[in-house]
Amino acid sequence: MVSYKELGLVNTREMFAKAINGGYAIPAFNFNNMEQLQAIIQAAAETKSPVILQVSKGARNYANQTLLRYMAQGAVEYAKELGWEKPQIVLHLDHGDSFETCKSCVDFGFSSVMIDGSHLPYDENVALTKKVVEYAHQFDVTVEGELGVLAGVEDEVSAEHHTYTRPEEVVDFVTKTGCDSLAISIGTSHGAYKFKPEQCTKDPKTGRLVPPPLAFDVLDGVMKELPGFPIVLHGSSSVPQEEVETINANGGQLEAAIGIPEDQLRKAAKSAVCKINIDSDSRLAMTAAVRKVLNEKKAEFDPRKYLGPARDSMKKLYIHKIINVLGSNGKA
Ligand code: G3H
Ligand code: 13P
Ligand code: ZN
Repeated sequence: MVSYKELGLVNTREMFAKAINGGYAIPAFNFNNMEQLQAIIQAAAETKSPVILQVSKGARNYANQTLLRYMAQGAVEYAKELGWEKPQIVLHLDHGDSFETCKSCVDFGFSSVMIDGSHLPYDENVALTKKVVEYAHQFDVTVEGELGVLAGVEDEVSAEHHTYTRPEEVVDFVTKTGCDSLAISIGTSHGAYKFKPEQCTKDPKTGRLVPPPLAFDVLDGVMKELPGFPIVLHGSSSVPQEEVETINANGGQLEAAIGIPEDQLRKAAKSAVCKINIDSDSRLAMTAAVRKVLNEKKAEFDPRKYLGPARDSMKKLYIHKIINVLGSNGKA
C-alpha cells in the first residue's frame, strides 16, 4: 500500500471547491508516455495551473502501473525543479471499470479514481460507486461517479448513442453513493469523431463548421439540484482542424472530424463544471508533429528529433487550453 500523500500528490477535494468558487475548471489530461507527461507538467508549471494526470486502463496496460506511479512521483519533483513551489497534481484513474481496478489504484498511490458505472442499470451503478467510495475514502482518495451515457469508445466501456443525464436522479445518486464529483452527459463524446460535417452548420463569419450546442439546460438542471457540487465533463476535445490538416497533408487519412467548440467549454468551465477531460486533442497534436517531421526529413531516425517537436506541440496545446478554455492559470 502506497499513499499518494507520500508521493507529493493531492486529491481533488480542495481543488474542485476553489474551481467552483473561482469560475474555472481543472484540466484533466490523459498521459501514456514520458513526452506527454513532460509537456503537461511544463505547461502546468509555467502557467501555475493545478492539473489532473489521468491514466486509463489502456494506459496502465500500455505503460505499466508501477512505472506510471513513479512517473507521477517524478512529475511532482520535476514541477518543483521548474520553480513550482507547491505543485497541485492529482493522479487519477480514468474510467475505472470495476471495484478491483479502483482498489488497485488506491493501493498503488492514485489520489483520485473514477468508477464508471454509467452503462449499468441505475441501482447497480449506485451500488458499485458506493462500494468504491467506501474503500477510497478510508485513504482520503476522492471518487468521480458518472450518470448518463456518452457516445463513443471509452476504455472498456463503449456506447453507440448518448443518453443525457437526468437531473431528477442526481441528488439520489450523490446522496446514496457519497461520490465527490459527478461526470454528466450533455452532448460531449469521446474520440476525435464527435460530429460529422452533415450534423453541423457553417458559421458565415469564419466558415467553420459548428456542431449542435451542448445541452446547457441539462447542466443547469443538474446545478439546480446539486448547488455547488463538482461536475465533470468527459469527451471535451475540440479536434483542432489545423492538426487534422497537418496529419492528412503528411500522409494521414483522417476522415472529417469535428469536436466541441472551445467557447462552449469556456462557458461550462465558468459554471459548476470543474474538471474537463482532454485526450484526443493531445493525440492529434502529437501525431501531426511526428508525421510532419518524418515526412519532411525522410532520413531521420533519431526518435528525439520527432518526439521533441511532438512534445513542444502538446505543451503549446495544453497552455492554450489552460489559459483560453479552462481559465485555471495562476490558480496553483
Ligand atoms: O475516455 C477515454 C480516454 O480518452 C482514454 O482512452 O482508453 O484509449 O486510453 P484509452
Ligand atoms: P476526448 O476524447 O474528447 O479527448 O475525451 C477524453 C476523455 O473524456 C477522457 O476520459
Ligand atoms: Zn472519458
